[in-house]
Amino acid sequence: MPLPDAFIQELKLRSDITDIVSSYVTLRRSGRNLVGLCPFHGEKTPSFNVYPDNGSFYCFGCHTGGDVITFIRKIENLDYMEAVRFLADRAGLQVPENNVDDGMARQRMRILEINRETARFFFSTLNSEAGRPGLEYLRSRSLTQKTIRHFGLGFASPDRFSLVNYLRKKGFTEEELIRANVAFRGRSGGAVDRFSNRVMFPIIDLRGNVVAFGGRVMGDAKPKYLNTSDTLSFRKGSTLFALNFAKDAASGGQMILAEGYMDVISLHQAGFPTAVATLGTALTGEQARLMARYAREVVLCYDSDEAGQRATSRAIPMLREAGLLVKVLTVPNGKDPDEYIRSYGEQGYARFKNLLENTGNDVEYRLQKLRMEHPPDSAVGRVAFLTAASEVLATLGSRIEQEVYAGKLAAEMGVDRSAVLRQIDKVSRKRRSEAQKKEFRTIQQDAVGLRDRVNPEKAGNLRAAAAEEAILSAMLRFPELAGFVRGRLKPERFVTAFNRRVYEALLGKLEAGAELSLSSLASFFSEEELSSVARMMARYHDVPASERDVMEYIQVLTTEQAARKARMAAEGERPEELMGYLDALRKQKK
Ligand code: UTP
Ligand code: MN
Repeated sequence: MPLPDAFIQELKLRSDITDIVSSYVTLRRSGRNLVGLCPFHGEKTPSFNVYPDNGSFYCFGCHTGGDVITFIRKIENLDYMEAVRFLADRAGLQVPENNVDDGMARQRMRILEINRETARFFFSTLNSEAGRPGLEYLRSRSLTQKTIRHFGLGFASPDRFSLVNYLRKKGFTEEELIRANVAFRGRSGGAVDRFSNRVMFPIIDLRGNVVAFGGRVMGDAKPKYLNTSDTLSFRKGSTLFALNFAKDAASGGQMILAEGYMDVISLHQAGFPTAVATLGTALTGEQARLMARYAREVVLCYDSDEAGQRATSRAIPMLREAGLLVKVLTVPNGKDPDEYIRSYGEQGYARFKNLLENTGNDVEYRLQKLRMEHPPDSAVGRVAFLTAASEVLATLGSRIEQEVYAGKLAAEMGVDRSAVLRQIDKVSRKRRSEAQKKEFRTIQQDAVGLRDRVNPEKAGNLRAAAAEEAILSAMLRFPELAGFVRGRLKPERFVTAFNRRVYEALLGKLEAGAELSLSSLASFFSEEELSSVARMMARYHDVPASERDVMEYIQVLTTEQAARKARMAAEGERPEELMGYLDALRKQKK
């Protein structure tokens, strides 16, 4: 009984492969992926790769690969359902059709009840006599009563027991308060409020549950913000502040990603309700994918200090890999968005709107960085800049995008647009052919050494198999290409049967409107077969795939099919006869 695709998607979204693998393997970043020593075979040099952008792993040493579920199956020695349950527990999800109330679910519910009561308590404190300092502070930061109510802001009084006492009277145990992280165990052994003398920002998930809090001191004390630690009901890395509002406001369009709570609140108050923020930590792939569910484009609006710029450079590829368009907005004069908006008072909206409208996309941001590295004020500088710029533009999936930038750069540098485009194509071709060569070599090695058990036809059809795998890997890594491929490539044109089967399974998923991913294939393929698919994704990981690339791979298949037919004819066998013979064989077996 297969699990619903929606559940598997949710489970994957909440089970970050990097986090999970990291608790078993020491990983080190290497470009866009991570590498470490393979836990599944003994080795001294790392050949175990994790690919966070598509949630897969692959070991080039022992050829084990798959998605996060496969990883848990293997490392914990579990069957498929056990591995799913293992991950679901970790992520705080209920496995469907399995409504046994396992204590865990109850505990999670209690935490949410505590949080809801806590938010109410902080809110009413803020609006009572005891909350005056908090209210004054929020007012001093130009927040209106309406904004305070909208975000449910509150106040934790300096008294270190008021919340604990309140919740105890409501019937919650000290254990529960500590588990919810609204209290900690004091030296005397009793529960003590975690937050005191701070203005409080509740963090609300997409179902409207209060899942955590951030609390800010009103002066210069440290730490400036104190946040709820991860609990059974909350994981920082998979939550975004104000996403509960922004997801509807963005309605599939644009979202703004800022750095802090106050930036988000200021932006919403000023008329930009699509702003969200991470919770004081660097953006995770999970958060990027979460945004991609509700938006097409993200405007990065981090602080303009060095830390903010570094965070921006890190966030760009993560957002792109989640399929988002990315723009980078730099707030002038080293201000953060909140300071900027406030400094213009009534004009805040118009000013920020203007910044938004004049914001370049991430390509422009990256080109601007290159301009600084290679000042194009001499012929040498211009050549260096254009060469570096072509490397950036070659990574773009869309030809139109490439042409637009080639045109801009050409005008700027006083050269022909076609010259820039030629350079871009040269880089793309080089990357493509390097990848193909590498793949070809390894396939040859595989064929010489252990034959590919999963796809035995590969040995006799190296070139075709390589093209097939490039296509399959492109569909899995860039699902937005899948529709394009479907329209141009019939399954019959695959030369090797295994790859054709993978292709057909992907088309089936596409038909059903399900996600294209390794996980969605899990129920159709054995572990060994999934490893093989993971290998395809791993081999091509660093190779961008555009519609044009796919067309070239399809072209290879066409040529190979023809060559194969010619070969067979020369050997005196008509392919149809051979097919008929194979069919007959197959029927005999049944
Ligand atoms: P900032 O230091 O940029 O603060 O931290 P801010 O958002 O501009 O806050 P104000 O304007 O001084 O009130 C950005 C974010 O980093 C997290 C918080 O989420 C904060 O909003 N942070 C910062 C912490 O979690 N702890 C800290 O001690 C500081
Ligand atoms: Mn600030």
